[in-house]
Amino acid sequence: MKKAIFTIGFVYSCLLPAVTQEIPKLVKNGNHVQLLVENKPFLILGGELGNSSASSNDYMRSIWPRLKQMNLNTVIAPVYWELIEPTEGKFDFSLIDSLLKNARLFNMKLVLLWFGAWKNSMSCYAPSWVKTNTSRFPRILDKTGGPHEIITPFNKNNLEADRKAFARLMQHIKDADSKEHTVITVQVENEIGMLPDARTYDEAANKSFNSAIPRQLLDYLVKNKNNLLPEIKSIWEANGYKISGSWEEVFGKSLATDEIFMAWHYAVFANELAAAGKTVYNLPMFVNAALNRPGAKPGQYPSAGPLPHVMDIWKAGAPSLDFLAPDFYNPDFKHWCDLYTRAGDPLFIPEHRFEKGIDAKAFFAFGNYNCLAFSPFSIESTTEPEKEPIGKAYNILTQLTPLLTKYQPVNAVKGFLIEKDSIQKDIAIGDYHFTVHHEYKMGWSPGSKESAWPLAGGLIIATAGDEFYVAGTGIVMTFTPKASNKKAGFISIDEGSFENAAWKPGRRMNGDQDHQGRHVRIPWGEYSIQRIKLYTY
Ligand code: DGJ
Repeated sequence: MKKAIFTIGFVYSCLLPAVTQEIPKLVKNGNHVQLLVENKPFLILGGELGNSSASSNDYMRSIWPRLKQMNLNTVIAPVYWELIEPTEGKFDFSLIDSLLKNARLFNMKLVLLWFGAWKNSMSCYAPSWVKTNTSRFPRILDKTGGPHEIITPFNKNNLEADRKAFARLMQHIKDADSKEHTVITVQVENEIGMLPDARTYDEAANKSFNSAIPRQLLDYLVKNKNNLLPEIKSIWEANGYKISGSWEEVFGKSLATDEIFMAWHYAVFANELAAAGKTVYNLPMFVNAALNRPGAKPGQYPSAGPLPHVMDIWKAGAPSLDFLAPDFYNPDFKHWCDLYTRAGDPLFIPEHRFEKGIDAKAFFAFGNYNCLAFSPFSIESTTEPEKEPIGKAYNILTQLTPLLTKYQPVNAVKGFLIEKDSIQKDIAIGDYHFTVHHEYKMGWSPGSKESAWPLAGGLIIATAGDEFYVAGTGIVMTFTPKASNKKAGFISIDEGSFENAAWKPGRRMNGDQDHQGRHVRIPWGEYSIQRIKLYTY
């Protein structure tokens, strides 16, 4: 009997057209951008490797199982120009092949970071044949005429060498991976930014600075005049919205203009790489930014990178890039996420300092911003991967991915990040409003006496007007009906899990667990999914 079923099934499946797994791509679903991997929306539950780890296969050997223990579905890993092209025109892709092999073995995806012309402003990953030939590959010059180990974007040889290597890398990824789609996104360069001045003073740069602003930029400004972000709009407005002239004529004489000028040229350079790479193999591509410290002036921080205040310049100069991404080593997580998403762009977090509270932030980022990726930096540095809070959060987020990606596009998902004493009130979802506060607010919570409270966070998904899934850590939630002055009560609260996208209820959370029907609670340091049915009375 079994055999017959197999035969029929086999014959039948031969008649079915094979499903082609398309190349990973970004698609717009409602107002939301989703990353499709193997034709399905994918949330990157990632971790970025420390800079040098992926330069040694031996070093990586013990790391892979640890990454798996933290429930990562994606490893974000550098590709080093100096190691793939040690001699001009001769390429060695063995490190990438090893990343591909191991990622597949551990059932993970890869985001590759091109450490090419620039890495954190500098050009330390340029191969020796580039570094040592400064007449062929010129450097930036500071105000005093001093060179730095930063190749200038104002030189064709620099662009040509970097672009060729990047295109060759994309060719290799295509050859080695276009069936399996292990590599799902590529970052072009790393934290591009200008130091120690707001612009370079090399001869080609000075000439360009005193010439007319490129038409492409002015056309972009004119076309998007009403939708420009305030930072660029106000500078342009203050100088009379001029539509021709040199950089200082159009934007005025200031450090901000120097930064805009540099941002444009970095964007155009990165765009050349992205365009060349995509022509070979069309994966989503992005650039990342070192966020600026408040109060620091251009030149005092890595300036002109893909930062919120020059986003318009980057978008104008780099249409082949899919998005700009923030790296988080600063406080004010929400502030920066808001800046990156305010114009409707997707949020992708390739780096967040591997620190306390990132579990709460991951819930918040996926729930509040529908973010595409979250990834602590130097993820392999933990010695106790099985205990890492981010691994526990990723376990929950893995289970919820089908639900999240189904309900995000219809705005039926909300996220929250809760600090000591912060309460988020009256947030509308389904037929109800909810209020959420820190679990330590409950007087009996063991943590309530602590002076510093850890970050708490979570998300809620409305699957019907009166049915919700809540997940996170350290939260207490209450509900009120939207439509009447009645009160809301719980028909049921069930803790449970998703197995292959099917809900498996576990404990019925009543009595002390829901404070005899008063609230939904997930204690801090615990991670769970609870399914809630509400009624009104
Ligand atoms: C941000 C960079 O993008 C990383 O490559 C690494 O240098 C970290 N900073 C170090 O904190």
